[in-house]
Amino acid sequence: MSSEKPQAVLREDYCPPDYWIDSADLSFDLGEEETQVRARLEIFRREDLIGDSPPLILVGEELECLEVRLDGEVLPAHRYRVADDELRIDSPPERFQLETRVRIKPHENTALSGLYRTSGNFCTQCEAMGFRRITYFLDRPDVMARFSTTITADKASCPVMLSNGNRVEAEDLGGGRHRVRWEDPFPKPSYLFALVAGDLRAHRGSFKTSGGREVALEIWVEPQNIDKCEHALASLQRAMAWDERVFGLEYDLDIYMIVAVNDFNMGAMENKGLNVFNSKYVLALPSTATDADYEGIERVIGHEYFHNWTGNRVTCRDWFQLTLKEGLTVFRDQQFGADMSSAAVTRIEDVKILRAAQFAEDSGPMSHPIRPDSYISMDNFYTSTVYNKGAEVIRMYHTLLGAEGFRRGMDLYFERHDGAAVTCDDFRDAMATAGERDLSQFGRWYSQAGTPLVEAEGSFDSEAGCYSLTLKQSFPEPDQSATREIPRQALHIPVAMGLLNSSGEDLTVRLEGESAPGETQTRVLELTQSQQTFIFTGLSQAPIPSLLRGFSAPVRFKMERSREELAFLMGRDSDSFSRWDAGQQLALDLLLDLAKTSARGEAMALDPLYAEAFGRILADPSLDGSLKALALTLPSEKVLGQEMEVVDPDALFAAREFMRKALAQTHCDALREIYSRGVERAIDENEQDAIHQRRLKNCALAYWMTLGGEDALEAAATQLERAENMTDTEAALVVLADTVSEARDRGLSDCYDRWSEDPLLLDKWFAIQAGSRRPDTFERVLELADHPAFSLKNPNRMRSLVGTFCSANPVHFNRADGAGYRFLADMVIQLDSMNPQAAARMVSIFNPWRRFDSGRKALLKQEIERVGGQHGLSKDVFEIVTRALADQSD
Ligand code: BES
Ligand code: ZN
Repeated sequence: MSSEKPQAVLREDYCPPDYWIDSADLSFDLGEEETQVRARLEIFRREDLIGDSPPLILVGEELECLEVRLDGEVLPAHRYRVADDELRIDSPPERFQLETRVRIKPHENTALSGLYRTSGNFCTQCEAMGFRRITYFLDRPDVMARFSTTITADKASCPVMLSNGNRVEAEDLGGGRHRVRWEDPFPKPSYLFALVAGDLRAHRGSFKTSGGREVALEIWVEPQNIDKCEHALASLQRAMAWDERVFGLEYDLDIYMIVAVNDFNMGAMENKGLNVFNSKYVLALPSTATDADYEGIERVIGHEYFHNWTGNRVTCRDWFQLTLKEGLTVFRDQQFGADMSSAAVTRIEDVKILRAAQFAEDSGPMSHPIRPDSYISMDNFYTSTVYNKGAEVIRMYHTLLGAEGFRRGMDLYFERHDGAAVTCDDFRDAMATAGERDLSQFGRWYSQAGTPLVEAEGSFDSEAGCYSLTLKQSFPEPDQSATREIPRQALHIPVAMGLLNSSGEDLTVRLEGESAPGETQTRVLELTQSQQTFIFTGLSQAPIPSLLRGFSAPVRFKMERSREELAFLMGRDSDSFSRWDAGQQLALDLLLDLAKTSARGEAMALDPLYAEAFGRILADPSLDGSLKALALTLPSEKVLGQEMEVVDPDALFAAREFMRKALAQTHCDALREIYSRGVERAIDENEQDAIHQRRLKNCALAYWMTLGGEDALEAAATQLERAENMTDTEAALVVLADTVSEARDRGLSDCYDRWSEDPLLLDKWFAIQAGSRRPDTFERVLELADHPAFSLKNPNRMRSLVGTFCSANPVHFNRADGAGYRFLADMVIQLDSMNPQAAARMVSIFNPWRRFDSGRKALLKQEIERVGGQHGLSKDVFEIVTRALADQSD
């Protein structure tokens, strides 16, 4: 990076390019020491510029330019200029062929963007701006070209050579070299280009589309992993069938390939016809992957597949529109997940992620609208806001328009924009037109940052038989993203709700102004003003409102309620999400009280109301094991911290540990009973039931372990020894890792021996220790950072230790002496020189620093400043650190 201050790119500065690229014919000569790339580009000037001849400016990074030809003739040096990461040609003709040859060094590429090496193989990652590290190009998503790719390499080290589209030629060149040619018939932006070459095996399958086309499916992995692909293949087949059934969308090429690689910054990438995946989202056997891993694989495979229509066929005009493809595709993978397993469990888990990650992001220095207004490094904006809040915004269209209206909107979106690069406004317009709705106010969801607060207040008039519900919306936190002072305006918020009678039954009620009661028990109120009152008529007794059912909008929701009322809803609400949420709200109130008690040094006590409700959940036959486990799990310290004026990690830890233990004491027999029943019934059931069983059983084990008895310890040790699946193995090792015991030492060392050949299992081994509650965890983490199997170069390994400790172990990371903060800063500084994208993600862990007490704040600030003062800092880390330190009006 140069020493100049990195510049921000603004959304309002968007201009179409002066030139377009029709086709890109690429030729790669792959070698051990270097790779040469020849690009033949058919370029033409923008129609409305005819007469005028602006310079052609192609971007390129870390390229050594060897030759430039224009229409076949070598360009003399004075006709072009290579400088500042660009290739510039003054006054080129209206239409011409440009040919460049560059040299690149994949083996030196530790940033994992562009062409790099992983486990000896070649692999590319081009989103968002990695293609410019391969060749000079108009590397922006609105430039869509037809690509063809020729690859030449050694037969011995690269028997397999893949790229987008169809393989049209293969040739043996003699001398140990060979060549293939791939052609992609669909125009695409450069970020969807991919090339993979190396020693790989394919697990093959096929899919017959509803239109009758046979599609070849290939999952490419290192030879030793060939037996771990069945679940990925089956997930892909389910995703293909689901997208046909629910959205009428068929796959469009004759082949779909997925490659699993060990070194990858993200989860996976939707390159046209050739997805590249982090191996953790492909490889699975019951003995190596947990139920959660299996589910993750299905979701990510679905997600990348769904991008073929929402992202690839219709793509983004510019990177500020990222949520157009990501928010929509996350929504699609959420719906897919809900249809494949349990809708209620899926919804609860998706909301947990939103609240833990996105709400936190939105109340800190990285707060931004789902369609950001500026960036320094686009890679920093693949955020929970763009993804998860973006998916909630799509869900709100679905709620407002209904499933059928939403489907009509999607159909119209594809009808209008197939093959084009478009904006979020284009999507909203398709929804408005097809749904015959005015969605102009809804557009504010795209431009306003921050989590809205919705407050509800109800009152019952027994004489009139009327219940009136007043809803208010506001933004209590200052707008951290605003460069200009524009006050945020009221949003269009769908509030799904129902009213219950005193025995917990749903009432069908009439809203004032309606001629008949609503047909469904859940109805959607539309809150469009800062304050609105809704009146329900014809009631004989005071109802109990159930609000924001299914989490119908990404808002914080507050209502003054008694603990009795929350306990009532926790046991009775017909909406599974709201039932779970009432329990979480109740636990949260109690835990925050307990934390205060603990901070004062006073004795804590368990609220009998919650203890009783907990017992009823344990015994409730209507709940499946997964829903039970979710209801029995207390809110995380991260979520609790968001509700405190000043976060007190020690008090939160103490309160949560106290409550877990007190609940276990109260329900000791029931928990033990659930555990032994789970052990007995582990095998002979269908897959979903077995998953529910394991989840509940392992939840019971974790509670039981808090009591510190020998019996629980022995049960965990036995489970670790006998487990036949990774779900049980991991659950046992996790609870043992919290203990100071011989069983823990033995368990960890046995697992190391068994797992040391499998990188994904070693990741688990590191993560389990980094997440431990044991008092000496930090010292252990320092040791592990020096372990021969640890490496900062591999993102999965780095995240398993540094990421887990610093973001999933708040009590230890936030040690009062600041040693945890120093550790993170040290890691970020080392990592930044190799992999800026990954370093920027890690340094973001510091973002909530202003929410801590003055002692911790000072220590945090010092470490953030130390990172920021590093010589040669990447623009990625620079952007995060600058925002974190920016002055605030508080
Ligand atoms: N397009 C992204 C992958 C990506 C993001 C590559 C940023 C490069 C930079 C892909 O579709 C994606 O969103 N992947 C997610 C997983 C998904 C299930 C949300 C990821 O990688 O985390
Ligand atoms: Zn995506």
